[in-house]
Amino acid sequence: ERLPGLLRAMPKAELHIHIEGTLEPEMIFALAQRNGLRLPYASVQELRSAYAFSNLQSFLDVYYAGASVLLHEQDFYDLARAYLARAARDKVLHAEIFFDPQTHTARGVAMETVVNGLHRACADARTESGISAALILCFLRHLSEASAFETLEQAGPLRDRIVGVGLDSSEQGHPPEKFARVFARCRELGLRLVAHAGEEGPPAYIWGALDALKVERIDHGVQAVHDAALMRRLAQERIALTVCPLSNHRLRVFPELAQHNLRQLLDAGLAATVNSDDPAYFGGYVNENFTQVFAATGLTVRHAYQLAFNSFEASFAGTAEKRAWE
Ligand code: ADE
Ligand code: ZN
Repeated sequence: ERLPGLLRAMPKAELHIHIEGTLEPEMIFALAQRNGLRLPYASVQELRSAYAFSNLQSFLDVYYAGASVLLHEQDFYDLARAYLARAARDKVLHAEIFFDPQTHTARGVAMETVVNGLHRACADARTESGISAALILCFLRHLSEASAFETLEQAGPLRDRIVGVGLDSSEQGHPPEKFARVFARCRELGLRLVAHAGEEGPPAYIWGALDALKVERIDHGVQAVHDAALMRRLAQERIALTVCPLSNHRLRVFPELAQHNLRQLLDAGLAATVNSDDPAYFGGYVNENFTQVFAATGLTVRHAYQLAFNSFEASFAGTAEKRAWE
């Protein structure tokens, strides 16, 4: 088959990747040792066997526990360097990397420790392999508006190291409207805006992300297919959806990967993209997401080209970079 080869070799941008979700079990053990921390797991295999999820929350509990081994600037640097090296092998030319500062600041890690480590990794990766990368600060939606404002305040001095903000964590019960004032302030600051919506939550949360938060892209968004008017709007405005097939499968959004609606989204004219979300937890980096969803759902070469095109078009890279990719 020539399709998997094309999928692996084609240049792409990755727009939905949580850096804490690239923390491989081996690195969790290595960082625990380096930082003198005890883990409640005896081995890498025992930890990996805990990666059997029934929904988003069951994953998040394990994901936040894993992230607790990240303490020092060098830890964040090493994590991001490892991801960017791995992404470059998948022909990712540009990555927009989410990070969750509140899960670190809550443990006493300073905002600047997180951002400086990640930023230095992006700069060094660019020098060494040419990959471009940008950072997107995500607010945890299960926490309060006040906590989000405090987080934004902490990021103020580091404003020029962040391209935008996002919204992630437990979706159900935490509608976008909860953060309307935070996002309005971010907009005034010139930050680009995205939000997770319609992963498990209803189409109303996608409407809320567009109308209350004024986001430019929707992370996941797969529940949009249940609302025809929303589908028309997403297509007409070319609002990108950063879809994560293996994540949706592992978190039981689609119990079988063959049921994934990526093809339906593309065929309706939506600007869908393929991404890996939390590859250390969901069994594959971006090329594995491409090859598995194509094999399971019968997507074609034409879809492959469209997905790669969409990823660059939807990115927040500058016009000079976009021209260089043409
Ligand atoms: N944080 C990391 N991965 C996430 C996901 N898939 N949904 C919501 N929050 C997340
Ligand atoms: Zn995500």
